Amino acid sequence: MGTEASWAIRTVGLAKRFGAIRALDSVDLRVPAGCIYGFVGPNGSGKTTAIAIVLGLMRPSEGQVELLGEPLGSRRYADALSQVGALVQAPAFYPFLSGRDNLRVLAASRRPVDERELDEALDRVGLLDRAHRRYQTYSLGMRQRLAIALALVGRPRLVILDEPTNGLDPVGIQEVRQLVRELGRSGLTVFLSSHLLHEVEQVCDEVGVIVHGRLVAQGPVAQLLRPRGLRLRVSAGPANGRPAARDGQLARQAAAHLEALPWRPRVELAGDALWVEAPPERGAELTRALAQAGIWVSEMVPVRSTLEQYFMELAAATPGGNGRP
Ligand SMILES: Nc1ncnc2c1ncn2[C@@H]1O[C@H](COP(=O)(O)OP(=O)(O)O)[C@@H](O)[C@H]1O
Ligand SMILES: [Mg+2]
Repeated sequence: MGTEASWAIRTVGLAKRFGAIRALDSVDLRVPAGCIYGFVGPNGSGKTTAIAIVLGLMRPSEGQVELLGEPLGSRRYADALSQVGALVQAPAFYPFLSGRDNLRVLAASRRPVDERELDEALDRVGLLDRAHRRYQTYSLGMRQRLAIALALVGRPRLVILDEPTNGLDPVGIQEVRQLVRELGRSGLTVFLSSHLLHEVEQVCDEVGVIVHGRLVAQGPVAQLLRPRGLRLRVSAGPANGRPAARDGQLARQAAAHLEALPWRPRVELAGDALWVEAPPERGAELTRALAQAGIWVSEMVPVRSTLEQYFMELAAATPGGNGRP
């Protein structure tokens, strides 16, 4: 891998196995510098594992990692890490100490800090005027903002936040989302993981979708959200005189028929389903074209975006899934 400072994080073929579990499988992350990157996937999809590897807390089974242009395993990786702030697990704050004293104690446990750095971090998370109050009086949102302040001490270039809105109340969730947006506007690269699709839609510029350890989509949110379409499942229909085609094969045939329509819709195969970029009102045309080819539409669902499509497929494949993991 060449050194490219334009990527805050870059991985190639990243894999991690825990015995028989493939927590990560051939993951190629591309996190552009200066953006808010949302790493989204359901619980257990490998987000924390990837973060732990990038932070040097865990070794990959395979693959390469570059952090701020420095390859993992090189001497300079430690320099890169010193420019990264992270919130992976909730810090153990002391309830009877003030916000500022907590920040001082925990930040100083890593390296010497001066009061100006603390002021700056507290200011960035909007807690400067309440920093003298005891931690136990803080709301959930304030507590999490203080945890983010800890990650910001020392002016990192990149801050990694692993599910920073987990366990918060609705007010706290809004506070943290607002803060992340502000951090992004200030030029910091923010890498945020979440199991909520709508959260990354609201907050992030770039997104990577991870499902069962595989990165299934990555790119600018605007691009991944742009296409609206219809997701179809097809079946061979009753007694049409042909041997029943396997679902995947039939979906491929259906895609070919739809792509041949006069208005040339864009069609993508997604396992045994297919996705057609088309407004919902064209659904009848799609159904007719397929019926003429002897293919039955067994299911047709409008989808708002490619991202939503991934989540719907995932839900379909997961017992009890509801499409918004
Ligand atoms: N230390 C570990 N030992 C064994 N399995 C693990 C370990 N850490 C994570 N896993 C497994 O790896 C998968 C991914 O977990 P994780 O990275 O925590 O997902 P996420 O953060 O997306 O919820 C899960 O199946 C999890 O059970
Ligand atoms: Mg996790």
